[in-house]
Amino acid sequence: MKLSVEEAIKILYKGGVIAIPTETVYGLAADATNKKAIERIYEIKNRPTDNPLICHFYSFVQAKPFLASYPKYVEMLVNQFTPGPVSFLLPLNMPSSLQAATRGSAHVIIRIPMHELLLKLLKKISFPLAAPSANTSGKYSATTAEMVEADLGKKIEGVLDGGASSIGLESTILDCRNKDEIKILRPGVIGKEDIEWCLRNENVKVIDTLSFELATPGSKYKHYSPATPVFQIHTESEIPVKKNIAVIGFEEDFKNVSSSENLKFISLGSENNLSEVASSLYRKMFELDALKVSEAYLLQRDFGNSAIGKAISNRLEHMLSR
Ligand code: TXA
Ligand code: MG
Repeated sequence: MKLSVEEAIKILYKGGVIAIPTETVYGLAADATNKKAIERIYEIKNRPTDNPLICHFYSFVQAKPFLASYPKYVEMLVNQFTPGPVSFLLPLNMPSSLQAATRGSAHVIIRIPMHELLLKLLKKISFPLAAPSANTSGKYSATTAEMVEADLGKKIEGVLDGGASSIGLESTILDCRNKDEIKILRPGVIGKEDIEWCLRNENVKVIDTLSFELATPGSKYKHYSPATPVFQIHTESEIPVKKNIAVIGFEEDFKNVSSSENLKFISLGSENNLSEVASSLYRKMFELDALKVSEAYLLQRDFGNSAIGKAISNRLEHMLSR
């Protein structure tokens, strides 16, 4: 069911769970201070109960009272990149009303998202929103209201439809608990160079961990996977002669070949337009699953060292069946 902002607010105050649009991916949101509502998020997603939830705020001013302390550079990053696709792991002001969301941890990940409709909603409520990505645990994230409805529609109170997520990949997660070092726990469109540039006059080291570190409990679980098994290949010659399969590649790969009944193509876009590739990546996985093929073959690509290239590689790597 599609909701208006007013309807969404009423449901949230009653402890309900709804899907919200963000610029990265859709979130499955509830009052971050309401223990029962938080437990429902875990049930709906079938999410392992030790995996904490990111808390979404309207502004850093709203988040500050929840924090024990934070290094000076955090405020610089907040001013530069938020509202926007970056999240900060910081120490909580204990005891905290957010501890159901952090699963008892004394550290919280905060995010100030950039989406007009969501900011409008966040401004009107008196609590932050706990929101993991709006997908069944293990699956790729939803980037449209239709994807949320198909996966979780029957289990939730409704969706605030804000159109397709413009970025399409989850936020960059920064471990900011150390005053002279930042660890990138999850790559996203804001990368090491952006952070280094912002903090160019500070003495802070930025460490690109490239893949999820153990600091995020979610790192040990499977992520981003379509229902269709996906295997990596290096060239088109490795496409097996089999019925009912799909090949995932780029516009450039499919110039001279056409799909047939036995071989379907999923094009991720042009390799020269990585923003477009990122924004449609999960939607393409949704399209892949709708094809109901028995398996899919992903043509390997080097996306280079840009932040967005690394973020795309990271998500594709996690999608592969092993
Ligand atoms: O772009 C995003 O960040 C989206 C949108 C909805 O905001 N959210 C998102 O949430 O990707 P989720 O739950 O799918 O991924 C968050 C990751 C998880 O791996 C979780 O383990 C980690 O962040 N995390 C959340 N809170 C944490 C905490 N207090 N300490 C350590 N890790 C935490
Ligand atoms: Mg997720």
